[in-house]
Amino acid sequence: MNVSIIGTGYVGLTTGACLAFLGHKVTCVDADENKIKLLEAGRVPFYEPHMEDLLADVRANLCFTMDYAEAVPKADVVFIAVGTPPDEDGSADLRHVLAVAELVGKHMTREVVVVTKSTVPVGTADKVEAAVAKTAKLPFHLCSNPEFLKEGAAVDDFLKPDRVVLGVATDHARSVMAELYAPFVRTGKPIIFMDIPSAEMTKYAANAMLATRISFMNEVANLCERVGADVDMVRKGIGSDDRIGPSFLFPGPGYGGSCFPKDVKALLRTSVEKGAEMSVLHAVEEANDRQKHLLFAKLKSVMGASLKGSRIAVWGLAFKPQTDDMRESPALTLIDELIDAGATAVTHDPVAMPEAKRRLGDRVTYAATNYDALTGAAALVVVTDWNEYRHPDFSRIKSALSKPIVIDGRNLYDPAKMKNLGFTYRSIGRGDQS
Ligand SMILES: NC(=O)c1ccc[n+]([C@@H]2O[C@H](COP(=O)([O-])OP(=O)(O)OC[C@H]3O[C@@H](n4cnc5c(N)ncnc54)[C@H](O)[C@@H]3O)[C@@H](O)[C@H]2O)c1
Repeated sequence: MNVSIIGTGYVGLTTGACLAFLGHKVTCVDADENKIKLLEAGRVPFYEPHMEDLLADVRANLCFTMDYAEAVPKADVVFIAVGTPPDEDGSADLRHVLAVAELVGKHMTREVVVVTKSTVPVGTADKVEAAVAKTAKLPFHLCSNPEFLKEGAAVDDFLKPDRVVLGVATDHARSVMAELYAPFVRTGKPIIFMDIPSAEMTKYAANAMLATRISFMNEVANLCERVGADVDMVRKGIGSDDRIGPSFLFPGPGYGGSCFPKDVKALLRTSVEKGAEMSVLHAVEEANDRQKHLLFAKLKSVMGASLKGSRIAVWGLAFKPQTDDMRESPALTLIDELIDAGATAVTHDPVAMPEAKRRLGDRVTYAATNYDALTGAAALVVVTDWNEYRHPDFSRIKSALSKPIVIDGRNLYDPAKMKNLGFTYRSIGRGDQS
């Protein structure tokens, strides 16, 4: 098939590269000239494991352009995969999606399936339909195909999805999309066809559920600290229950990234607009906002007034490992608080340093290695659970720090071992609070 993808971010580029891998002829469009130039040169504008190799492999089936007239007329299927950032009131900003829909209508020259892959609130398909219809001279078909990939595992998730959700309203859309996705579900994972509003809602419900698990476990962890329980034990104890399962039960410094915070906000906004308030989700968001201040609070409780004027090493800036995405990262909250308190942050991240320099400029110091960040620092705060930080040389950490203080936002280290080594060690929800 001829496929066009509008928007070459994490989702659009992954979709394009994976469909090209299966032999489809794919044209990727983006409004950002620099991105298109980089992609044409075979480079990926963001960090995503395996993406650069995949692009090299599929180059014959994949091209990049800024020109809709080049991409849309020949397409059987057009995916809209542009960003849907939060508007001022928390609702999803649909300007990019609708602008693209109009351009698709303008340039289509055959009966096409217009697929919304961007995460959009229920009811957006009607707006997309109206936007395409404004300029279209031929019939077209809508599909809502929410994406569930994880940054850091995008290629693998796309090639081996747990399920594919397709909201369709016509037989044509159903059969074209079934054919397109058939190779991805050969192992028996389901394609779940549904009506379009249900597909739109499924994406928000999935992210809201995952955010809820995270906030719930963070609150359980905070209570564990007060009652002398160990959240790692509790996590294992409940995660082995089939009804609960082990995923997304790790406590931490709060969820971040490009999806959970904005999707929770957008769903809350929809619930208010429709008069069906989601009080649980309100609490999830509040708990997450509080949790993002936890690492600083722990550091402050250990260092007191000596924090002012100190250098603090920060390991990890991305909102999670295997990505350079720092959107809504808890590290940003910590860094703001350190600076407000008169401390200096000396930062390290295995891949997010260029992104950090773009965002933070000279507000922080950048270290070439995680150990370099420790030189002259009074304490270490671990924010992201990169594998590189899991088994560090503790004697090296201890001799580099001016005070042996480690605040571990990901429960990477053993509290008893840290105590024996002479560290003042704080993690989340475990027996190391005094
Ligand atoms: N990142 C994820 O992990 C993830 C996962 C599932 C769903 N989503 C959803 O998918 C959508 C895209 O997310 P992303 O992370 O890929 O975003 P992104 O910000 O990485 O990429 C969006 C791209 O769209 C381009 N763009 C914007 N307006 C355009 C226009 N008018 N014409 C052409 N290109 C345009 C931008 O230049 C950018 O390259 C969002 O709705 C997001 O919520 C993201």
